Parts: sequence; C-alpha cells; structure tokens
Amino acid sequence: MYGIGFFLFVYLKTENNTNTLSTKKPIGVFDSGFGGLTILKGIVKQLPEYDYLYLGDNARAPYGPRSFETVYEYTLECVKKLFAMDCELVILACNTASAKALRNIQQKDLPSLAPNKRVLGVIRPTTEVVGKLSKTGHVGVLGTIGTVTSNSYPIEIAKFYPEITVHQEACPMWVPIVENNEIENESTDVFIKQHLDNLLNKDKNIDTIILGCTHYPLLINKIKKHLPANITLLSQGEIVADGLVDYLKRHPEMGQKCTKGNSIEFYTTDSTTNFDKAASMFYGKEVKSKHLEL
Ligand code: DGL
Repeated sequence: MYGIGFFLFVYLKTENNTNTLSTKKPIGVFDSGFGGLTILKGIVKQLPEYDYLYLGDNARAPYGPRSFETVYEYTLECVKKLFAMDCELVILACNTASAKALRNIQQKDLPSLAPNKRVLGVIRPTTEVVGKLSKTGHVGVLGTIGTVTSNSYPIEIAKFYPEITVHQEACPMWVPIVENNEIENESTDVFIKQHLDNLLNKDKNIDTIILGCTHYPLLINKIKKHLPANITLLSQGEIVADGLVDYLKRHPEMGQKCTKGNSIEFYTTDSTTNFDKAASMFYGKEVKSKHLEL
C-alpha cells in the first residue's frame, strides 16, 4: 500500500520537473529568447485550438553570434526538455537554431531519441513560398551572423527554385536594438539603412526580402522607410503558421497526437520578471511565464 508521503513525493517531483500529471500534449515552440513569440503569435492565430508550450532560452540568448556547435548543443538540450514535457511536435521558431541545429537534430538525434516525435524549423516554410512572390527572381535575406554564414537560406531556396538568385546580409545590431527597445530611436535608422543599402548594392534587382530573424518584424516600419516601395518584405509569423497548417494536413497523425485545449504556457530559462516585461512587445499581449531550469 502507498502512503500519503508517496503521493506527495510524486506530486512534488512532477511539479519540479514541470511534467504535470495532466494528459496535455502541447505543441512546443522554441526560441533563443523572445523572438519566437512573433512566430507563436502567427501560429496561434491560425490554430488556436491546440495546446502550446513556449520555451525561451533567454539565459543563453542571443544565439546569433554563437558557434555552430554551441547553437546545436543548446537547441538540442531545449528540444529534449520539451520532449520531456510531453511535446510530440516541436517548432524551432528561431532562424539561427533552424539554420544551425535542425538538420542534425532531425537526422542524427531524433531516430534514437524519439523516433515518433517531430521537430520542424522556420526556414523551409519561408523558402517554399519565396519563389512564388519574386517577379525578378532576385531575393534578399536579412538575418543574424549565424543564419547568414550557415547559408541555409540560399541552399534551401535552391532546392525549390534553382533559378532564383539569393544575396544575404547579416545585421548583428538589429537584435540588440529590438531587445533594448531602441526601435523608435533616431540612431536606429542609421543601422537599418546601412544594412539595407549593403544588401541592395549586392544586387539591384532584388524585389523580395526575407526577414530571416524573429526580431526583425518589430523593425518593419523602419525597414520599409528605407526601402523602395516595390520591394516585398516577408515576415515569418504568417508563413510559418501556413506551413504548419499544411504540415498537419499532410500528417494528420501528428495533429492527433497533439492535444486541443486552447492553452498556452510560457517558460523562460532566465528571470520571469524580465521575460514578462519584454514579451508583450513581441507577442502583442500580456504574458505570465514560469522559470525553467534546464
Ligand atoms: N531568434 C533569433 C533568430 O531568429 C534571433 C535572436 C538570437 O540571436 O538569439 O535568428
């Protein structure tokens, strides 16, 4: 016979592990910090019925300037955590993590770690649509140093649209500008214009630009201000959401594994006070997070 102590132990242990006794199987949405909230917002708008679990690795953000090995190690650790928290499907809502860790996780880790679970990224759904939008066949990509040096966008675009010419530009100051809430600052214009000019100087025929970083949609007004009006800007929230809707249609077995309880839980590896303060800027709504120890 088990005594009350045993049940108390089980309860406390599962609480500490953030593995509740509920039967929820949320869709995991992972980012290095706040930026993935712009993606989550788009996903929840289109698929509000599912349960979601957002994890921001704020304690170790930004990922953008980190090495391939480090981004892979951190991302894998967070994916394992989301699996342990009953996520059957995890979206890497971070371009840098998608660029540097996704392929390894899908090909090397998943088969032994959790062969029936799935991890998806944000680069593929974006590259799938870009060819339909560009009329000149010349596309620009703006991203972190990590995303740009990985060459993931040109490689993936070439798979769907080999005829398209791609030029990239890393904008290392743009994430700190957003994180420090300097978006409306006049000096921000200097950094925005500098990188847009650099990109367009590489190729005057660019007519479509991918905002290949979760933070950049917050700079969209400033970006538009310094671009010719005929250039189309691609923000990822809606595109990734469309991609997920399509994926769940093609893989109904995954959709069935994820529970539908209209809930969203937010976790951060850093201070919840800081997370909650900044998160609403990215998510557009108040957020109440919990701390997660990796
Ligand atoms: N979330 C990252 C991305 O989309 C930007 C922030 C970071 O560098 O960690 O690339």
